[in-house]
Amino acid sequence: MGSNTLSENKDAVDLATSESIDFATTALDYERFRQLAKNPNLSPEEKIAFPSQYRVGYEDMIFAEILGNLLTLKEPNKTWVDIGCGCGGVTDRVKKFAAQENHNLVLVDSKEMLDLNQDQEGMIKIAGKYPEIAQDVFAATGAKGADAILCYSVLHYVYVDTNLFAFLDHLIDLLAPRGAALIGDIPNVSKRKRFFSSEAGIAFHKAFQNTDEPPRVEHLVTEHDNIDDAVLAGLVRRAQAAGCNAYIVPQNDALPMANRRDDLLIRRP
Ligand SMILES: C[S@@+](CC[C@H](N)C(=O)[O-])C[C@H]1O[C@@H](n2cnc3c(N)ncnc32)[C@H](O)[C@@H]1O
Repeated sequence: MGSNTLSENKDAVDLATSESIDFATTALDYERFRQLAKNPNLSPEEKIAFPSQYRVGYEDMIFAEILGNLLTLKEPNKTWVDIGCGCGGVTDRVKKFAAQENHNLVLVDSKEMLDLNQDQEGMIKIAGKYPEIAQDVFAATGAKGADAILCYSVLHYVYVDTNLFAFLDHLIDLLAPRGAALIGDIPNVSKRKRFFSSEAGIAFHKAFQNTDEPPRVEHLVTEHDNIDDAVLAGLVRRAQAAGCNAYIVPQNDALPMANRRDDLLIRRP
């Protein structure tokens, strides 16, 4: 959720102990999520940096969208990798569905996040920062690759502390033939600007902020730490060049951040 750059507020709050964190102004990366995971004062959704109004009650809708994109999971006995699984309600549904359909599930995140996920049959946990542990993750699929990869609400954190193309390249290498990867819930600053320049976006801003002032939208400025149309288009082209089909897909309009987020779907033929 954080919109500030990491260097601006890296040491502003102690994320491992603080009782209340303003996620709108807190910049996050892999290391800082490890601290959130350890914080005993936070709910599971807060440990993954979501104020409850953006997630609680929406988990079933998000999970339906995940299954609607990762079609291979509709057949049983598949291998499913969740990169940056976190510990919230969406992941609870991933684990439940994987158990029900007899999928092998590989959860990938920091040890601190993984410890918050109870072990279950058919589940393997690989602790570490992707793609540094890419070989271990591939081995956990039985060296066959993944039929489905989920990486939901993670890419904007990868963007600030990892080579994004290296991340994508390893993720594509992990995909088995006819497999699909959903890199979902990506904040797209270009889409945000389009929305807040529209009639609907201006009305939304005025109601949300309880103001008569229109939102401030700046064009032709550098967008440090923010993913935009160009970054997404670059990822699509990169996946296509690696032999996959790739698509930028919209979220369900009923999701609270659908007006400024996109999903990226990659399918290996
Ligand atoms: C906003 S949470 C999303 C959790 C979950 N996917 C969901 O949508 O409910 C982001 C998660 O990504 C993890 N993460 C960030 N960068 C990562 C990386 N390079 N490798 C593995 N996990 C990462 C964080 O530790 C955190 O648990």
